[in-house]
Amino acid sequence: MSLTLRTVPDPVLRAVCKPVDSFGPALRALADGMLAAMYDAYGRGLAAPQVGVMKRIFVMDATWKDGARSPQVFINPVVTWADPVSEAGEEGCLSIPDAPCMVTRPVAVRLAWQDLDGDTQEGAFDGFSARCVQHERDHLDGILCTDYTT
Ligand code: NI
Repeated sequence: MSLTLRTVPDPVLRAVCKPVDSFGPALRALADGMLAAMYDAYGRGLAAPQVGVMKRIFVMDATWKDGARSPQVFINPVVTWADPVSEAGEEGCLSIPDAPCMVTRPVAVRLAWQDLDGDTQEGAFDGFSARCVQHERDHLDGILCTDYTT
């Protein structure tokens, strides 16, 4: 599956995505295509609307630039807990080329999601991973990092 990266002001980046309710080979192909597009663009996260697919799925590999790849796929993600402590940090977005912005976000979150088999997973994220999962989850509701003012 070859996917084209969408950039602002493409309206697909502003739509609210629909839950994924079908788990199978097509979803796996979408996730693989999204990961390939993310690595090709030298990114560490990519959400489905960024390739014009209006489904609640994003991919992330927070550490591949430092070593081996560790691709992760998050389907129907929900933030179940956010640290009351927030901090400002710089974020880049593959859909907003060459325009990093400062965003204040909780420093840690817990996330619940489904995997490619439809099984529910939950995990805790801090550091860069916490920032990344919040940024990518925002994309599923049409929210861009440039919407935050700090
Ligand atoms: Ni982004």
